[in-house]
Amino acid sequence: MLDWSSLPRPIIALAPMAGYTDSPYRQLVKEICPRVICFTEFTSVDGILHGNEATMRQIMFDPEKERPIVAQIFGKKPENFRKAVKILTALGVDAIDINMGCPAKKIVSSDCGSSMLKNPALAEEIVRATVESTSLPVSVKMRIGISGYDEMYFFDFARRMEKAGAKLLTIHGRTSKQMYGGEADWHPIYELKKNLQIPVIGNGDIRGGVEAINKIGNLDGIMVGRGSFGNPWVFCEILAAFENRSYTPPIFQEKINTMLHHYDLACAFKNEKWGTLEMRKQFAWYIRGIPHASGLRQKLVTASSRQEVISMLNEFLVLRKPSAADPESRQAQPA
Ligand SMILES: Cc1cc2nc3c(=O)[nH]c(=O)nc-3n(C[C@H](O)[C@H](O)[C@H](O)COP(=O)(O)O)c2cc1C
Repeated sequence: MLDWSSLPRPIIALAPMAGYTDSPYRQLVKEICPRVICFTEFTSVDGILHGNEATMRQIMFDPEKERPIVAQIFGKKPENFRKAVKILTALGVDAIDINMGCPAKKIVSSDCGSSMLKNPALAEEIVRATVESTSLPVSVKMRIGISGYDEMYFFDFARRMEKAGAKLLTIHGRTSKQMYGGEADWHPIYELKKNLQIPVIGNGDIRGGVEAINKIGNLDGIMVGRGSFGNPWVFCEILAAFENRSYTPPIFQEKINTMLHHYDLACAFKNEKWGTLEMRKQFAWYIRGIPHASGLRQKLVTASSRQEVISMLNEFLVLRKPSAADPESRQAQPA
């Protein structure tokens, strides 16, 4: 079981990200930086109750490699939260997080995710029902507002979550209307923290150690989402910054090796076909920033087997012309 209050500070968390932060992704992050607390992708409480295979895969985790693991759930019916959380507790997750921040049309139009922000009474009832149904700590991930920022409304909503028994809040510094555009505003999060007893994690636009240091303020921790795409080392960089240590980014060969290791974890999680399809988007992120690799990126996103991925990488490494502007290329070895 996870105790948010006694975790070492600052808490460093991997954000829940649907379609990305599955078990292989989380295992990789934990191998690279064991201190990180991982959240599952958001998972429908109704889907859990139906025992739907794809839904259950979202909350599957390796108990040896991913603990403590936080299962993130969404829904709109308090009674379904009660039942689903009992299943999750029996599955052995370490904490429950309730999604009240997702702005996706499909989710909002079914009155879930960030549409909860419009209905504080229901949100409170859901948190209370969940807390009553499990001994695990329950937290809420939310945004600073719906279509605009209203300090009174935001503070009142957060206080209601605390009063209902939430043991932690994670706040993404954007309104629901902003989706992922513009810049996250962390000031409302610092102000909110002053008004709550429970720990608060800030989230939005952290891509490295400098941002983490600049943004932590009075908060208990930070959560990183997109900044970890193709860069699971970002957590080492952040931890090094907090501990005032120097950080050396991975060289080209290490990036490729890690990408292939991630790929192997994905294939082992289900099978090679599934792993290859799931990894296509991740390949593109690992390759990003590698000089002269746009052709390779275009090919990798169409790969259909491990053998094809290896041949594409080998072809790239053979054709690649080392240049003074690309000092890392001297270290590349065929995969
Ligand atoms: C592809 C993608 C999927 C996401 N899925 C979820 C999710 O399942 N649950 C959730 O609470 N937030 C989800 N988010 C939001 C992130 O957790 C995070 O709040 C947001 O990306 C801002 O943080 P960042 O700037 O560090 O990425 C998702 C974001 C992205 C980009």
